[in-house]
Amino acid sequence: MSEQIVYFNGRMMPESQVGISIHDRGLQAGIGVFERTRTFNGLSFRLDEHLRRLDRSMRVTRVPAGMSIAEIKERTLEVLEANKGHLGPHDDFSIAHFITLGVAGNPTVIIFTQKIAFTTFANQYITGAHVISSPVEQSPISFIDPKVKTTSRMHHHLALQFVRNVDPDAYPLFLDHQGNVCELNVSNIWIVRDGVVVSPPGRSILHGITRDVVFEVAANAGIPTEERDFQVYDMVLADEAFFSGTSACVMPVTKVNGLQIGDAKPGPIVGRLQQGFCELTGVDVVQQALAHLAK
Ligand SMILES: Cc1ncc(COP(=O)(O)O)c(C=O)c1O
Repeated sequence: MSEQIVYFNGRMMPESQVGISIHDRGLQAGIGVFERTRTFNGLSFRLDEHLRRLDRSMRVTRVPAGMSIAEIKERTLEVLEANKGHLGPHDDFSIAHFITLGVAGNPTVIIFTQKIAFTTFANQYITGAHVISSPVEQSPISFIDPKVKTTSRMHHHLALQFVRNVDPDAYPLFLDHQGNVCELNVSNIWIVRDGVVVSPPGRSILHGITRDVVFEVAANAGIPTEERDFQVYDMVLADEAFFSGTSACVMPVTKVNGLQIGDAKPGPIVGRLQQGFCELTGVDVVQQALAHLAK
């Protein structure tokens, strides 16, 4: 099959023709912001919300794309259209936006699609995912505010290396300097206690687009939600836990630091939230991922 088409600095081109300058500040110093938006049945989901977050990230970091959000949206839909033939049965795309400081005041803007690698997480819908407290702390607001979706992710890389050395399937759980649970490296974390779905407050986490959808789906299903600080202690004693993120939507978490959460099986509230996602998107997210394991 032919190569995927990428938007790169004003032009559409095959992926292999994209050439980033050796002087790009994104490459040299990690100065950039990004987004990842999902498709369901090949159609973008919450693209406007992702692009609004991209806009906020660009403004706060002073990394402008040099084009309007409306124009970025137009180019995004063109990239999606150009690549939709690459989707097979049960496939969907992650649509990536990368904006870097570029070279000499000329930003680098890249928009591309990538098939979601369902096989890397599908099994966790059955077993539940594992998380381990990271020895690397959540980036303080005074350093790089975690509300910004920045490409500067060395701390995530280091945390991942550490926890994968302990448990090859685990995700790093970032805590703030007081031990409050914040988020994972690629997703927001939640616990369920006495029927209430609890998220850490929005103060020092990425405001996940999926997190907003979880609040929405929970409200529609009559499941109460709360935003408050909690610690690993509360995770160990929770009835259920899960993470939310663009690709996996709602993923059960059954172990924290090697200790079982609840009965160490995906729980009923997680199931109801996943069901809510299916109703909203028209895709049974869990079955879609599991179909890739059966291939
Ligand atoms: C650090 C972090 N937290 C949370 C999330 C979840 O955000 P979203 O639901 O918008 O994918 C991500 C997504 O990449 C992330 O990188």
